[in-house]
Amino acid sequence: MRVKELKLYQFKNHRNASWSFGDKINAFAGLNGVGKTNILDALYYLSATKSYFNHSDQQLLLFGTNEASVYAKLEKDQEYEILAGFGETRKKTFKRNGKAYARLVDHIGFLQAVFITPYDISLVFEGSEERRKFIDYSISQLNKDYLHDLIAYRKILDQRNAFLKSLEGRLLDTLLLESYDRSLVPIGTRIYEIRKKFIDEFLPIFQEIHLALAQTEISVSLSYESPLTSETFSAVLQANSYKDVQAQRTSQGIHKDDLVFEIKNMPLKKFGSQGQIKTFVVALKLAQYQYLHRKSGDLPLLLLDDIFEKIDASRSQRLMELVCSDAYGQIFISDTHGERIRAHFAPFDVSFRLFELEPEDSV
Ligand SMILES: Nc1ncnc2c1ncn2[C@@H]1O[C@H](COP(=O)(O)OP(=O)(O)OP(=O)(O)O)[C@@H](O)[C@H]1O
Ligand SMILES: [Mg+2]
Repeated sequence: MRVKELKLYQFKNHRNASWSFGDKINAFAGLNGVGKTNILDALYYLSATKSYFNHSDQQLLLFGTNEASVYAKLEKDQEYEILAGFGETRKKTFKRNGKAYARLVDHIGFLQAVFITPYDISLVFEGSEERRKFIDYSISQLNKDYLHDLIAYRKILDQRNAFLKSLEGRLLDTLLLESYDRSLVPIGTRIYEIRKKFIDEFLPIFQEIHLALAQTEISVSLSYESPLTSETFSAVLQANSYKDVQAQRTSQGIHKDDLVFEIKNMPLKKFGSQGQIKTFVVALKLAQYQYLHRKSGDLPLLLLDDIFEKIDASRSQRLMELVCSDAYGQIFISDTHGERIRAHFAPFDVSFRLFELEPEDSV
């Protein structure tokens, strides 16, 4: 998949801007705050139907305006146009070739993108939700049934939790609780099985990429932790039912799954250096890219935001070598210095387009 053209209308600090892109490297350069990351986020928005950074679309509207749009012309097997529109008073819509999707989830997976940003270290330092999101994003791009299962699971879980809350610590109706469990168990079990299979396939890709980046035999691993590893989901729910009634929420289930990261058999979070952690996280994201690529045959967009921060010169060089290979497609990259980024790619025989952003280009 390639983006030929992007147009932003009142999207964050870009009032009215457009770019035509080359097939391989597209670099955005300019001073802090000119809107480089915002452009990458707009591309991500077109892929995920939401921003990578902002939870609410309202925060994406250029200050003082009440609607925005993001448009792209794409090339895959044929040409496509995607138009996303949203605003204060209008419902968010996504259109492909002029036709609106009935549901936004129908668009997921059409334009795959992997975004690498400095915020990704939250994968290491934040709670398990970040790591579940990473797993779920990787799978959902390729597996619609999985995405629908996740949505259904969340809905039933919310209902079960609302029911537990309504009990105020006293279980009067075990039948109703069991009826929620009967709906939750098959969906949760499917999600667990698919996540487990994903980790099994993902781990060797991750280790291969980590080795290529770090070029040392330093051992890295990730393992999947789930209460379903040792027990069936219905046993887990039954064993925790008393606790759940007391706590007024569902304490165990696949909504608590986690990924454990290790370097030299020690927890990465505690024992990794800043550069090692950054390398680990970049390898995770590139492995996500390769997982999607190898499974779908398509080349997702690769969005690289401030990628050189905290990575030493030799690792940066290897990163450039990797992404310039045929295993990666079109790349969008941001940096404060245009010439530095040009120099990084100069040794490689790839098409390179540099967009220098000036403060007045934007707001
Ligand atoms: N909704 C919005 N409306 C207008 N401007 C916005 C909006 N949201 C963010 N901005 C502005 O966008 C700018 C930040 O853009 P962005 O993060 O893309 O900068 P950048 O070029 O990546 O900078 P850096 O080099 O520091 O990473 C800030 O000046 C911020 O005020
Ligand atoms: Mg930025």
